[in-house]
Amino acid sequence: MKIKSASFVISNSDVSKCPKDRIPEYAFIGRSNVGKSSLINMLTNQNKLAKTSGRPGKTQLINHFKINDSWFLVDLPGYGYARVSKTIKKTFQGFIKKYFLQREQLICTFVLVDCRHEPQKVDLEFMEFLGENGIPFCLVFTKSDKLKLSELNRNIQQYSKKMTNTLWEEMPPYFVTSATSSDGKEELLKYIEEINNR
Ligand code: GTP
Ligand code: MG
Repeated sequence: MKIKSASFVISNSDVSKCPKDRIPEYAFIGRSNVGKSSLINMLTNQNKLAKTSGRPGKTQLINHFKINDSWFLVDLPGYGYARVSKTIKKTFQGFIKKYFLQREQLICTFVLVDCRHEPQKVDLEFMEFLGENGIPFCLVFTKSDKLKLSELNRNIQQYSKKMTNTLWEEMPPYFVTSATSSDGKEELLKYIEEINNR
């Protein structure tokens, strides 16, 4: 799929104030610093559409970006960010969970995990929350430029083993991406296009 236009629409912390358009929506979630905002920029060919930072905790609100005038990409704050206070963390988690539970337009969620790290409890718990609530999701292994192919494959295999040894019968659809090399771009956009065309 070609991205012909991508523009920022609105930021807020209140799901009831998100855009009312009845168009498909895809959300990016994961731990702080995993590369959610960078991936949105990579997919849309715009390096400043979503704000990124080397310091975790950059994205703090629900951000809607309209793509090709017909669907939304949504950038969300990271979960499991250690440096914010407990009160802020709770508020974050409150509105993030509400977004997932209430947003009817949400078609698919992309759960981003750093391909260098072994499966983290917070990610597995978040996927469990999605599963329990019947919210479809894919996994995205980010920062693939940081590993050799052999290491990458080994880590994905370990991730798959962990998931299928615990709660899941099989791995969800997954993608391997790099905001630096644009690895995974075509595959991810094709996946979205196929859902949009259904
Ligand atoms: P929060 O908004 O804080 O939750 O973080 P985020 O998940 O949106 O991460 P962000 O996109 O801001 O990226 C965090 C850091 O990782 C930045 O320094 C990015 O340049 C870097 N980064 C993101 N994606 C990649 C990637 O694919 N490869 C490499 N090498 N660095 C990346
Ligand atoms: Mg961000």
